[in-house]
Amino acid sequence: MTEKHRSDALVSETISRDGTVALVTGAAHGIGLEVARQLAQRGIDVLVGARDPGKAAAAVRGLDRVSALPVPLDITDQTSVDLVLRTVEETKGRLDILVNNAAAHPDHDETVTSVDLESAARVVQVDLFGTWRLTISALPLLRRAPGPRVVIVSSGAGSHSDDRYGLASAGGAYASHAIGKAAVNALTSALAAGLADTPVVVNAVCPDVTATVPGAEARGARPVEESAPGIVWAATLPDDGPRGGFFRDGKPLGW
Ligand SMILES: NC(=O)c1ccc[n+]([C@@H]2O[C@H](COP(=O)([O-])OP(=O)(O)OC[C@H]3O[C@@H](n4cnc5c(N)ncnc54)[C@H](OP(=O)(O)O)[C@@H]3O)[C@@H](O)[C@H]2O)c1
Repeated sequence: MTEKHRSDALVSETISRDGTVALVTGAAHGIGLEVARQLAQRGIDVLVGARDPGKAAAAVRGLDRVSALPVPLDITDQTSVDLVLRTVEETKGRLDILVNNAAAHPDHDETVTSVDLESAARVVQVDLFGTWRLTISALPLLRRAPGPRVVIVSSGAGSHSDDRYGLASAGGAYASHAIGKAAVNALTSALAAGLADTPVVVNAVCPDVTATVPGAEARGARPVEESAPGIVWAATLPDDGPRGGFFRDGKPLGW
């Protein structure tokens, strides 16, 4: 089976509802933009959030059913988050799917024993607290949707089970990224438990090593077209789908 066919099979197990509205964060490029494109292909109206709305508008030009939020989305800033959610409510009247894709980049030479902790704190501030902030702020809107879904884009870097670049394998490289992603896995679990008696389905997804910076493909990273379907799958799970899990390409991944 080719990657393309595997992706189609993954997506066909999931649901699609008319009028569904999704918000994808940090989606002016990279994996987020491709997730927006693939959600839209399923008939979902997608809003792309970015810190620079001009960049988002340029990125979505020509894409059917995908529009850029006209206001900046900085997930570390409650005023920005509130304004974005008000804008979603006023323009679309609903929010069914939240894809928390935004994340910060750690310093390239950072290791767990050689680290600028202020810089590391900024990474965790975005990856963990930004994701947490936006998700709980969006809950009042999400809870009004018939089948709300929250996806947290995590990474095998925050897992003990990933023997290529996981917590126990990476020699402490990109420590703030790995620790932040381990924390969002914990957040996923806690949110799913806290929302267990509601229709809100929350899961975390690792997109795998993906070519979002120049030269990455030559180093073995896969294209965004192959990484996005696993996120789209989690964003469109049926009502009785898994909750509080961590997945890659629709398959469970160890914590
Ligand atoms: N690429 C991989 O190999 C890989 C592997 C595992 C996991 N992931 C995860 O997949 C997701 C997407 O990664 P990517 O490779 O596509 O990287 P990316 O293109 O850098 O996407 C991350 C986005 O987050 C945004 N962002 C950063 N800080 C923000 C803030 N405070 N508020 C709102 N947005 C903010 C960035 O926006 P600006 O445009 O404003 O900088 C950027 O668009 C991330 O969660 C990443 O950790 C990626």
